[in-house]
Amino acid sequence: MPRLSRLFVRFALVYLIVGFILGGLLLTAKAGLIDQRVWGWLLPHADIMLVGWLVQLAMGVSFWILPRMRRDYRGHVVLAWTSFVLLNGGLIAGSGLTLGSIWFPGNWVLIVYVSGLVTQGLAVCLFAVYAWPRILPTITGADVRRQQQAQQVKLQRNRPRGSPPETRQ
Ligand code: HEM
Repeated sequence: MPRLSRLFVRFALVYLIVGFILGGLLLTAKAGLIDQRVWGWLLPHADIMLVGWLVQLAMGVSFWILPRMRRDYRGHVVLAWTSFVLLNGGLIAGSGLTLGSIWFPGNWVLIVYVSGLVTQGLAVCLFAVYAWPRILPTITGADVRRQQQAQQVKLQRNRPRGSPPETRQ
């Protein structure tokens, strides 16, 4: 598994734990057992679970598993790395800071949360641009053999008259 995929998946698992804890706190608040200000964490919970966990896991696994253009060549990986930084920057700055809303309420919360969402949206678009050229048909062993045979036929046709036929070593 490439380094970027490992990072994506590890970050996704951390968000799963954080989002699960927030969800648990929301449930507890719903039962009336803790301070109702905890409802201020509903939006971060939704963002962390949907984008931090689910979307991030999908991005990490697809970076690893989508067909490569050539052996060990995964295309413009700088786009995927930028997307990783933007996604997590957007999550930490957006939802992370929004967690403070229960102690410091104000208009800033919505601005920060929406800016975080926009950054995450940008990251997802960038990743889509990166991944698009990697959506290729699967190359099977039979395809490779067919390609080799076609190449062999081409070589035989282009061979100068009288020269011995090509043999594979
Ligand atoms: C992949 C997992 C999860 C996803 C994508 C997810 C997503 C969401 C979203 C989008 C909302 C907002 C829904 C709304 O306001 O109508 C929500 C609310 C909530 N979630 Fe989750 N969640 C997940 C897991 C969990 C878990 C594990 C818990 C509990 C431990 C939990 C507890 C809650 C609670 C209590 C609410 C508030 C429900 C209400 O408005 O009454 N969630 N979740």
